Amino acid sequence: MRLTGAIVLVTGASGGIGRATATALARAGAQVVCAGRDAAATQEVAAAVGGAALTADLREVDAPAGLVERTVAQHGRLDAVVVNAGVGHAGPVAEMPAERIAELVDVNVRGSFLLARAAPAAMTGPGAIVFVSSIAGAVGVPGESVYSATKAALEAFAPLLGEELRPARISVSTVLPGVVDTGFFGRRGAAYDRRFPRPIPPERVAEVVVRTLRDGRPRRIEPRWLEIPARLSAAAPRTYRALARRFG
Ligand SMILES: NC(=O)c1ccc[n+]([C@@H]2O[C@H](COP(=O)([O-])OP(=O)(O)OC[C@H]3O[C@@H](n4cnc5c(N)ncnc54)[C@H](OP(=O)(O)O)[C@@H]3O)[C@@H](O)[C@H]2O)c1
Repeated sequence: MRLTGAIVLVTGASGGIGRATATALARAGAQVVCAGRDAAATQEVAAAVGGAALTADLREVDAPAGLVERTVAQHGRLDAVVVNAGVGHAGPVAEMPAERIAELVDVNVRGSFLLARAAPAAMTGPGAIVFVSSIAGAVGVPGESVYSATKAALEAFAPLLGEELRPARISVSTVLPGVVDTGFFGRRGAAYDRRFPRPIPPERVAEVVVRTLRDGRPRRIEPRWLEIPARLSAAAPRTYRALARRFG
């Protein structure tokens, strides 16, 4: 799709990858609708990119459709969506409060599905939906089982939604970042303490999201070398798990 003049809704735009994506999209000539939960932070990003700000808590079941409605009310249409808002959690499942499991499922999975359910009716095509998933959704990360499963849900969902939306000329893709240098780890309650792989800047993921909106490629992993573990995990899951246990 062409991004010049396109109306693009970005969730989780108040910081991190979403903020970097909103910035990259504005540079590409899109009109960005920045959605976040923190009103002040979202407005600041929207002002910086010359876009609009919408506040919503995606734990609420009506919030995703509300974002689409408000975008259409303000701009008359919607051309693309970057489904980026997400929360992480590190720690054993048995120690995870039930509310935390619900939050991960509600924001990462239900919110993403509901946004993808509401958006196409407002899109005339050619258009695009990009889910910001995670390498955790492809290989699974021990100690992050619920988070990994929420992202794996997006990996299962996106190609099938893509089939449904093909006649409407709406591409559906996932972008799977590795470790990205954002506030994500602080918010999930456990800092990133490994020396390898080194975190990449959010701007690098944003560039990949923009490229994917443009060309509609179904799936991109960034950094690209992570395609090797992703392929091994898909082809030989037990071997991958044994190697991951040994080498971390
Ligand atoms: N950082 C990484 O290493 C990494 C790696 C792979 C994938 N990802 C994925 O990339 C996406 C963006 O993460 P990030 O690294 O940019 O983290 P981040 O800086 O923590 O940003 C998360 C964004 O999600 C929004 N969000 C969280 N809960 C929400 C809720 N209930 N309602 C509405 N918005 C909510 C936040 O909004 P507010 O700040 O306004 O609350 C924020 O804008 C996530 O889906 C994450 O899973 C991150």
